Amino acid sequence: MDRPKEAWGSRLGVILAVMGSAVGLGNFLRFPGLAAQYEGGVFMIPYFVSLLVLGLPLAWVEWSLGRYGGSQGYNSTPGIYRSVWKNRLAPYCGVLAIIIPVMIYMFYVFIEGWCLAYSLRYLFGQMDLGDKPQLYENYFNAFVGWNENGTAISSPGGWPLGSAVLFTAVCFVVNFVLIYRGLAKGIEWFCRWAMPLLVVCAIVILIRVLTLGTPNPALPEQNLFNGLGYMWNIDVSGEKCWLSLCDPQMWLEASGQIFFSLSVGFGIVITYASYMKKDDDIALSSLTASAGNEFCEVALGGLIIVPAAFIFLGKEFFSKPQDTFSLGFKTLPNVFNQMPFGQMIGFLFFFLLFLAAVTSSLSMLQPAIALLEEGLGLRRRASVALLGFITAVGTALVVYFSKELTALDTLNFWVGTLCIFVLATFQVILYGWVLGVDRGFEELQRGAEIRIPRFVKFIIKYVSPTYLLVIFGLWIHQQFLTIPADPEKTWLHKIQHNGVVQLTLGFIAVVIVLFLLLIAQSVRRWRAAERAEKEAAK
Ligand code: ALA
Repeated sequence: MDRPKEAWGSRLGVILAVMGSAVGLGNFLRFPGLAAQYEGGVFMIPYFVSLLVLGLPLAWVEWSLGRYGGSQGYNSTPGIYRSVWKNRLAPYCGVLAIIIPVMIYMFYVFIEGWCLAYSLRYLFGQMDLGDKPQLYENYFNAFVGWNENGTAISSPGGWPLGSAVLFTAVCFVVNFVLIYRGLAKGIEWFCRWAMPLLVVCAIVILIRVLTLGTPNPALPEQNLFNGLGYMWNIDVSGEKCWLSLCDPQMWLEASGQIFFSLSVGFGIVITYASYMKKDDDIALSSLTASAGNEFCEVALGGLIIVPAAFIFLGKEFFSKPQDTFSLGFKTLPNVFNQMPFGQMIGFLFFFLLFLAAVTSSLSMLQPAIALLEEGLGLRRRASVALLGFITAVGTALVVYFSKELTALDTLNFWVGTLCIFVLATFQVILYGWVLGVDRGFEELQRGAEIRIPRFVKFIIKYVSPTYLLVIFGLWIHQQFLTIPADPEKTWLHKIQHNGVVQLTLGFIAVVIVLFLLLIAQSVRRWRAAERAEKEAAK
């Protein structure tokens, strides 16, 4: 087959693009939220174990599989899997690596719209809602349409043209314009300036937080050092620490966070790596991108959000259970309101979230574009239009069924958590057992600028799959086989009684079938091309 026409402009460009895909809402919202939920320090234990046993090895697996597939002429995951595993089923397994990013995009772009809206409101001085936490919660609920389906279209706070739907639409168009411009001129170009800019924003915010001291002398306990201590110290003498360490849920959440944060098990890194040249370094590039992501997550995200909330709201604040978006969209605006220069910091924070979200959501579109172009032979304009239509339907579903963010939650759980585990497990087995860990390692080492220790082979072949399967088993057990404290919150109950959950699951099924049909058509075209090549060679 012909070499892929698209390619990265430079090595720094591809590293920034992968880092851009990784650094996103997960780093600055999901990670601090989880750390706060498990009292900071103790969460870092399963977090770092997952990083070493799953995150870094899987990133190397994806970079190697991707570059290998690229060298065989494929950029889409169905094609790449087909080149690695000579089995009729192989390309169809690629459906997960297409629908995961596409369906995460459908809700991710909605949240991206919130970030853009909040940053602009700060810029125009419209986020000073007073000192009652309830006001920030009411604003968020009204803005995203939490109370009733179909209300994300309204504009709370009297700001003309300020609805979540409008901002989501703007973000949607920005993503598709960039993806239309292509790999080097769109994705790489945007990541080249957005990544440094977002790090600068984060450093300014970090300096602000680290110089807060004890803002309220009447509450001396609420100071910077206690805030940092809450995030980082492990209270081994406390009962909660040991209870948490024995709780499978914390281990599951930590490994889920590593996948989500590094964008591994998504089908993204494998697609990006397929555009590299056969002898380009992937070992060090992968490590650099992962390290950059961890710096943004642990050093920047970890030092800013939880300590700032602790300093202004105190330890008691963290004892109340919070939903996923509370910390970022309800609590932090209240914290910024109490902080000197808080309005400017609020702008910088939500602007950095917006940039981080765009560099991630962009990457979620590329795997499907690669399939449409390579498998179906569509031109860029047609593939962008078709994918735009599919994702617009999904985003409309998420935005319309906004009550308690049920559609978003359903996609996040079934696609953004469950499917990622399945795909990660499939890929690590594909590399370790089908391609063969020795061949896979050779691929990883070709052109490498660092030597990867040989024990990594053992980790990829035995430890990572075992760890994944054990975690997955525990997870299934916890979700579906234990008697829950609140049965109404289980997925089994929701599937039986909640129409929006049923509809969203039906939609996921339809998208899966659609992409399976597209893959079947691609396979027919690939086979025809191979037959023609053989004939020509005779
Ligand atoms: N890796 C992206 C994030 O952390 C998806 O948000």
